[in-house]
Amino acid sequence: MNPISTEQLTAAQEWRYATKIFDPARKIPAATMAALEEALVLSPSSFGLQPYQFLIITDRAVREKLLPFTWGQKQVTDCSHYVVFTARTQLSEENIASFIKRIAEVRDIAPDSLTGYRDMMHGNLIAGPRSNVIPEWATRQAYIALGNLMTSAALLGVDACPIEGFEPEKYDEMLTLNGSGFASCVCCALGYRAAGDKYATLPKVRFPADELVHRI
Ligand SMILES: Cc1cc2nc3c(=O)[nH]c(=O)nc-3n(C[C@H](O)[C@H](O)[C@H](O)COP(=O)(O)O)c2cc1C
Repeated sequence: MNPISTEQLTAAQEWRYATKIFDPARKIPAATMAALEEALVLSPSSFGLQPYQFLIITDRAVREKLLPFTWGQKQVTDCSHYVVFTARTQLSEENIASFIKRIAEVRDIAPDSLTGYRDMMHGNLIAGPRSNVIPEWATRQAYIALGNLMTSAALLGVDACPIEGFEPEKYDEMLTLNGSGFASCVCCALGYRAAGDKYATLPKVRFPADELVHRI
């Protein structure tokens, strides 16, 4: 891996902004979108459990239906690809077992060698206090994937708008998530900024770095 320069990283952070107006005519090329999907899949998560699924919506009719439940924000219909992040509403013994099976397959090791790891996850997430907050915990993991997606998009010159301004219950209903074990938690519109989006050139509003970053 050839690291990018510090200047390139900061330039990408400055270039990225929460895009308000997308150019509906510009679509993300397939290879670029494949890399962004890979960024979602490769996102880190607690224990590696990946307690989420990503819905990538390109269907125009579905997006039109989501618009009124997205506070009327037109990014949902005008962007190239609309990602709905869903998080597990509960975590079962089977979910942990299928993860252990996957590790054993991918790394070609005996599942029995992972008993300690399985017990640790079980003790924390099924039998421990975190079992009471699985939806919140899973949602936090999904947000890490959101951050990873946005930074990855910026590095590839793709615009994005994270979206919390939506009605999760309505999304769950419309996307038939009820009863699936997953619920929508946040979204991200991806595509290319329209020429007239004034937010692209507004200075970024951030507190001074020394109010946010403390060295100990
Ligand atoms: C989790 C999250 C949810 C957000 N929801 C929305 C949204 O629904 N609509 C919107 O236009 N911007 C949304 N934003 C964008 C923020 O307002 C924006 O990131 C912030 O004002 C900083 O501006 P910048 O991203 O352009 O630097 C959201 C940002 C985050 C991180």
